[in-house]
Amino acid sequence: MPITADVIALPGASPRLLGAYVESLGVDRAADSRPDFLALAVAPGEVYPVTDPELDALVPASAADVVAAYQLTGRAGETALIPATAAGHAVSVLLIGVGDRSSRSLRRAGAELGRRIADGAMAVTSIVADGGEADVRAFAEGVLLGGYRFDLKSGQPAEPGPPGLAQLLVGTGGDWSAALHRASVTAGAVGLARDLVNQPSAVKSPQWLAARALDAVDGHGVTGRVWSTDELTRAGFGGILAVGSGSARPPRLIELSYHPDGAQGHTVLVGKGITFDSGGLSLKPNDAMMAMKTDMAGGAAVIAVLSALARLGVRHRVTGLVAAAENMPSGSAYRPGDVLTQYGGKTVEVLNTDAEGRLVLADAMAYAVAALQPDAMIDIATLTGAARVALGGTHAALYATDDALAAALTAAGEASGDRVWRMPLEDGYATALASDVADICHIARDGSPGSITAALFLREFAGGQPWAHLDMAGTGRSSENSGELSKGATGFGVRLLLELLAS
Ligand code: BES
Ligand code: MN
Ligand code: ZN
Repeated sequence: MPITADVIALPGASPRLLGAYVESLGVDRAADSRPDFLALAVAPGEVYPVTDPELDALVPASAADVVAAYQLTGRAGETALIPATAAGHAVSVLLIGVGDRSSRSLRRAGAELGRRIADGAMAVTSIVADGGEADVRAFAEGVLLGGYRFDLKSGQPAEPGPPGLAQLLVGTGGDWSAALHRASVTAGAVGLARDLVNQPSAVKSPQWLAARALDAVDGHGVTGRVWSTDELTRAGFGGILAVGSGSARPPRLIELSYHPDGAQGHTVLVGKGITFDSGGLSLKPNDAMMAMKTDMAGGAAVIAVLSALARLGVRHRVTGLVAAAENMPSGSAYRPGDVLTQYGGKTVEVLNTDAEGRLVLADAMAYAVAALQPDAMIDIATLTGAARVALGGTHAALYATDDALAAALTAAGEASGDRVWRMPLEDGYATALASDVADICHIARDGSPGSITAALFLREFAGGQPWAHLDMAGTGRSSENSGELSKGATGFGVRLLLELLAS
């Protein structure tokens, strides 16, 4: 998982940057032990906008002059690199805006530092020197996520060189190792999800994804089961089988179980694992297909979350289900007009083979309700272009049958940075799914809203316990490096679900 940065804390070191810099010269590191950057915070609207007064000692100009010359505002993630001297060495001072110093702002600020050190550089920073554990965690998470790299130019995922190192000058009062542990496990899980999503589909078959899932949870208190095609057939997973029927590479259901001693409660997470979505016989145009290796991003989030629970000490039973299939057109593909039987017996009229995600999810959800007795179920999926049109890349669409679960997810989203926006499970559209030949259609014929009707279809399989549906079609990819997101896969949902389960 190419997170190419490490973070350490220097607790109770000299409270200011210059002292920390001098002390950091002694930090054990194979190569040159001299930091490449000193990073200082710039905050908006302050009399002395650079929050570390030692800037004046480092550069031959006053901090106020520097801020004016570089036109700094202090907004979170703004940067300026300026030359300086410290303890007789030439060093670069990286000024980073910290905005309002909220966790979100500090994550952004950290990400800029992470990007700068990802090539193996070392930095020492006073940015969270006066902060608490939440600040240190957020900043460190930003550094690690900003340091994410995925490079296939060599034909292989980039073999990570020596990681960059960010040394955080911190106070004496906090449990910094716990804060950094949380940040590093979380960011590592996000990095795993990004790696799985960024992997091209030529490699990423359902079997490949299942093997990576088992690798990822190995040694982390999780047992894994991969359902073969025969097993899926015998048990009646008609949605997964139909969607996978057009591909030369058969579908799988990946079941990951985390059941710690004395666990209270049982949450089932269900992820859409379409390893490539061509649309099937209802073929997508080329441009719409280009990013469809991303269509297993919900499943990747579920795998990554399961891999991290033990390390975060979660005392709650969690089962992860990833419905993995490749949606392809061929002589054996399922067709518009087919009627299939989902797990549990409900029949579904297929109107468009490109609405495949809900069919694989419905099987997994019905299985969870029938076999796993969850107290809560959450599914996560790159489900509809309509959700992306509605909410863009900042929020996933959230639907829930339970207000408390919706509120908990919304709060976890704000805290973690994976934000969600609640949408209505509007009963008035349910009639749009009526079918003449089956129990239900999987899409509306009449132009009813696409993301809502997809959620209403899934609700038919959600059981009686609280259920939430996350449509991450808009948040699964980023078109650029921005804040803690890297271009390509975002790893959306990992931070959200870990925050929900671990806090
Ligand atoms: N995987 C797509 C949804 C998607 C679109 C994800 C864009 C990410 C970016 C999904 O399987 C799909 O094709 N949905 C169709 C449903 C339609 C046929 C009812 C859509 O949204 O157009
Ligand atoms: Mn599709
Ligand atoms: Zn899809």
